[in-house]
Amino acid sequence: MPSYIVVGGQWGDEGKGAVIAYLALKDKPDIIARGGVGTNAGHSVFINGRKYAVRQLPTGFIQTKARLLVGAGVLVDPGVFFHELKALEDFNVGERVGIDYRCAIIEERHKQLDRSNDHLHGKIGTTGSGCGPANADRVMRRAKLAKDIAELEPYLTDVAEEINNALEDDKLVLVEGTQGFGLSLYYGTYPYVTSKDTTASAIASDVGIGPTRADDVIVVFRSFPTRVGAGPFPTEMSQEEAERLGVVEYGTVTGRRRRVGWFDFEFARYSVRINGATMIALTMLDKYDKEAFGITDYDRLPRKAKEFVEEIEERVGVPVALIKTGPEIKHIIDRRDTI
Ligand code: GTP
Ligand code: IMP
Ligand code: MG
Repeated sequence: MPSYIVVGGQWGDEGKGAVIAYLALKDKPDIIARGGVGTNAGHSVFINGRKYAVRQLPTGFIQTKARLLVGAGVLVDPGVFFHELKALEDFNVGERVGIDYRCAIIEERHKQLDRSNDHLHGKIGTTGSGCGPANADRVMRRAKLAKDIAELEPYLTDVAEEINNALEDDKLVLVEGTQGFGLSLYYGTYPYVTSKDTTASAIASDVGIGPTRADDVIVVFRSFPTRVGAGPFPTEMSQEEAERLGVVEYGTVTGRRRRVGWFDFEFARYSVRINGATMIALTMLDKYDKEAFGITDYDRLPRKAKEFVEEIEERVGVPVALIKTGPEIKHIIDRRDTI
């Protein structure tokens, strides 16, 4: 049984949430684990027209048979955690979720600093979720860990142990990354980045699996990349252009307007290389070609859409195995059996 890691290939908000939700329902993983920075990420999933947004729990929560885990590398904000447990009550999340006892904790003062500090808030344009300051305390080795918080006790576990045991028993494990390649502390557009590496290797480490344990790395790209906050964006288009193309959007966590750009093939090639991608998931093909909306069969895609997919495969050098053609889980073309 393979294990796979899903990561963002651009500046986050690639639609990882929607891709992961599909994989969770289709492949029925035994474990769905979240890596990444923390509550700075907002993944959204549309189910039957209703939008669910999660910042702390794995997006795969919709697969109600799976164990849901938050890896040791991830920052936990207890307030957000309990809020999501309540909001997702219908999915029996409380009975299935486990947090690694070594997760570091985001405290109120971290959020305040993230929102008031000129450098973080003013210059970098952080999400204000407290992640950067909490990671700074972690590096200073003075952050609280999940095992220090009494209310989290019922949910504590050893995520690395659970995942490695599952893999040894030939179970299927789906690992979710957050943010995107361009926001990596190491490989992104420093200093306009998040507080950690965001590549597949870091996500594997976050949940406690070695690099040899991942069978597939799926890098998610959107047809029109977006970026929230400050920093270089070489293919950025003007707001008027974004309006004309009907690709204006707002952030899940901050509500800020997202900057929009054209697909950057060079950047995508670099991203799949450093991530060691075996597959690409392309989202929002319906925004690139309106005629592609809702199509689930590759052969039925209009010519313009197909040519775009072919160009990506040719210039980026990795098969486009999954294609999202709309926001709902069912709006997807799954070509994994052809590669
Ligand atoms: P991050 O962790 O912040 O990167 O989250 P994310 O990658 O899950 O993306 P996010 O949910 O923040 O934003 C993507 C938005 O696009 C969501 O509202 C999705 O429901 C939506 N979406 C995903 N795929 C498609 C698609 O193929 N077409 C359209 N029209 N919308 C999509
Ligand atoms: P921080 O991660 O809150 O410190 O923010 C640092 C930078 O990363 C800012 O430009 C944020 O807008 C961006 N960022 C962090 N998380 C996400 C995400 O999930 N989606 C998009 N941008 C993000
Ligand atoms: Mg998002």
